[in-house]
Amino acid sequence: MEKILNKIIDNNRYLIKEGAVADYIPALLKANPNHIGICVMDVDGNIYKAGDYTEKFTIQSISKVMSLMLALIDNGEDQVFKKIDYEPTEEPFNTLFKLDFPHTIKPSNPMINSGAIVTTSLIKGEGEERFNRLLTLIRTVTENPNISYNEEVYLSEKETGNKNRAMAYLMKSRGFIEGDVEDILDTYFKQCSIEVTAVDIARIGLFIANRCKLSKGDRICDNKTASILTAIMATCGMYNFSGEYASTVGIPSKSGVGGGILGTIPYKMGIGVFSPALDQYGNSIAGYGIMADLSKELNLNIF
Ligand code: DON
Repeated sequence: MEKILNKIIDNNRYLIKEGAVADYIPALLKANPNHIGICVMDVDGNIYKAGDYTEKFTIQSISKVMSLMLALIDNGEDQVFKKIDYEPTEEPFNTLFKLDFPHTIKPSNPMINSGAIVTTSLIKGEGEERFNRLLTLIRTVTENPNISYNEEVYLSEKETGNKNRAMAYLMKSRGFIEGDVEDILDTYFKQCSIEVTAVDIARIGLFIANRCKLSKGDRICDNKTASILTAIMATCGMYNFSGEYASTVGIPSKSGVGGGILGTIPYKMGIGVFSPALDQYGNSIAGYGIMADLSKELNLNIF
C-alpha cells in the first residue's frame, strides 16, 4: 500500500508548479510549496503513510468540520440549522454579498466563511472558553494531546482578516449572530491557525467514518452527527468545486487554505492529504490530484 501511495504522490508532484501558496494571509506565504504528504487509516486499524506526513500545517477551513461537530453537540441539529442553511453555493469560500440580500436570513452552509463564523458563535462558552473547548475536542478526536495553534498565523489572520470582519459585523447587524463579534472572530481566527499533520486529519476522517467513535470505541457524538458532517462535506466541503470534486473523486472531503484535505469514507476509511500549493478555488492542487488517483486506484468513489 505504501508503494501505491508513493507512486500517487510522485505522479501528482508536477501539479505543485501550477498552483500557488495562499498569500492573502501573509504568514501562510512561509509554507514550503514542495511539501506533499498523505496518511490513510482504515476501520480495521491499518495506517499507511507516505511523503511529508510529519510536516505541520494550519488546519484552516478543515476546522469548520470540527466547529460544526461541536455546535451540533452543544445545540442539536434543529437549532444549528435555524442559523445556517444546508445548501451548496456557487460562490467562493469568502463570499459576502448575498448576506445583505433582503430575503437572506442565514448563510448558505457551514463550510463557507460566513457560515463557519455563525457555527463558531454557536459553540457554548465565553471568551477563551469557546476556543479551548474546540481545541480539546480536536485533541480528543485526533487522539493527539500535543495539538496547538500557530500564534504567528493567528495574529496575521487577525490583522488582515478584514473581509471576515466585515461579514461578521454585517451578520450581527442583520441578527444572524448573537454575542460579541470580536470575541467570535478571535475564536474563528484561532481555530483556523491550529496546527495539524496529514496523520491528524486522517484520524478526524476515520473518526467520522466510524460514526463518531474513537479508536477504543468511545462515542463522542451520535450517528446522526456523522451523517450530517459527511453530507455537508460531500456537498459543500470543496466550495464551488464540490460538484465536480464529488463526480471526479467521490470521497466526502474538506479542504483548507493551509493545503490540507480531509477525506472520510463512511464505515471504511479516513484520509489526510497535505500539499500547500492551491488552485483557483483555494483547494490543494496536488491534493486534489492525489485524492482523484487514490479514489481510482482503491475504488473508493462512494457515488
Ligand atoms: O478565513 C479564512 O479565510 C481562512 N482562515 C480559512 C479559509 C480557508 O481555509 C478556505 N479554504 N480553502
